[in-house]
This record gives sequence, C-alpha cells and structure tokens, in this order.
Amino acid sequence: RKTAPLPDDIRAMKGQRPIVSLTAYTTPMAAMMDAYCDVVLVGDSVGMVQHGLASTLPVSMEMMVLHGQAVARGLSSAMLVIDMPFASYEESPEQAFRNAARLMAETGAAAVKLEGGVHMAATIRFLSARGIPVMAHIGLTPQAINTLGGYKVQGRGAAGEALLADAQAVAEAGAFAVVLEKVPASLADRITAEVAIPTIGIGASAGCDGQILVVDDMLGLFTAFKPKFVKRFAHLGRQAEAAIAAYAEEVRARAFPAAKHVFADTLAAKTPSDG
Ligand code: KIV
Ligand code: NA
Repeated sequence: RKTAPLPDDIRAMKGQRPIVSLTAYTTPMAAMMDAYCDVVLVGDSVGMVQHGLASTLPVSMEMMVLHGQAVARGLSSAMLVIDMPFASYEESPEQAFRNAARLMAETGAAAVKLEGGVHMAATIRFLSARGIPVMAHIGLTPQAINTLGGYKVQGRGAAGEALLADAQAVAEAGAFAVVLEKVPASLADRITAEVAIPTIGIGASAGCDGQILVVDDMLGLFTAFKPKFVKRFAHLGRQAEAAIAAYAEEVRARAFPAAKHVFADTLAAKTPSDG
C-alpha cells in the first residue's frame, strides 16, 4: 500500500502528470476512489448533493467534520483535503486558523481548501506559515453566489486579468494548488502556464494541471441539475431508482423475500465434506 501524497508532492506533480481528484462524503465512496485519485476533497458541495440544501452557504463546521471523518476512514493512499465552510474563515486569519486546525485535527485531513483570491491571500499566508497547507479556489466561488449574481462563467474578457491576479496572489501567499472553477479554457491555460502551483480545473480546461468533479455529479447520482462542465461517467441514479421500483413491485406481489432469503425453524443437516 502506497502512502498518501503530501501537499508538497501534489505541488511537485505540476508539469509531471495530471492530478486526479474527486469529492467524497462517505466511507464507501472514499474507499472506491482511493486507489485512483491523488486528492480526495470533502467538498462543501455535500450540503447540496447529500443534504438537499439550495446552496453551500448553510453548510456548518459540524457537517464538514462528520463527513471528513467518514471519508478519512475510507482512504489510505489518496490525500484528504477538506473544504472550509462559509463563514468559518472570512472574518480574520485567526478565525481561519482556529477552524482549519479543528478540521484537520478532528478529521486527519492533510490540507484545507478555501474560496477567494487576492482578498484571501493574507489568510492563506497566515495559515501556510503556521502548518496548515491551503488549496485555493478561484473563479466561480459558490459561497459568494449572492454577490457574484448567479453561477455564471467568471473571468471572461477584461475580467481575465483580475482572475490571473487572484491566481498569482494565492500562489505567492503559499497555496500548494488552486482550483479554477467555471472559467474560459484559454484563461485557464494562461493561468496554468503563468503560475508556479498546480491548477485543478472544474469547468476550466483539459490543459489544467489536474481535474476535479463532484462525485455525485459524475456518477449520475445528483440529478436536480447538470452544469455544462459535468460529464456523467455513469447513471447510477437511474439504476438506483429502477432497483427501488423493482423492490416495491416484488414486495407488493409477495415475490420478495424468496425461499433463499428466509430461515427454517431448525438447522439444515450439513452435507459432509470429503476433505
Ligand atoms: O465543494 C466542492 O465540491 C468543491 C469542488 C467542486 C472543487 O469545491
Ligand atoms: Na466547495
């Protein structure tokens, strides 16, 4: 069994080989992806895909800790990163440190992720200098949905320069990687070429240093809506619903349970083995 990479190992993958990343929220899903992913993220997307929330804003520290602990139990060879939820880090570097330290101590995560570019650089520097590796997240930052005015593409046209400045600011502040969400492909390629740390794309470009998707999206488990950047590699939601429908039908027809699923009153005589 290989040991999990550290943030510095992920940083060193830039220019070497693409970084593979997915989100996870539960032990079995984490265990399924452990051998295939370099980084597993406990995303605050958990609020939307697992708890039915309309945005990521209501996600709490407690939710992140519980899902982080569940995911950690399923991993042995992928690096665990955990999202800082809305309002757990924006107030001050000190607040960010306190909550990031709690997330890492209680889940065993190797790093935290937080949203924001230039305006979060001081906080990223504060955390990095105190033993907390930070993955940054710029472009479409879902926790800022109310000020961004919707889930639209970020950094088109002249706004591209500001996004490049965000990427440079988080890299200089010490972030070991940066997620680029929903930005033009040409801008993602330019940022990837110009910043020293790996870019992890989601709705960005195949030229990014790595990719990430929400696992419930790529498995077809979350079907309330599908962003353009999501590819469904499976349709598990459809299969699950068909299985549930079949179960309901068999129960109503008294076809389930069958003889092999029920117990006799006495132990059946064991067939003697020839060994
Ligand atoms: O919360 C999340 O799942 C994320 C990824 C999509 C990057 O932040
Ligand atoms: Na997130």
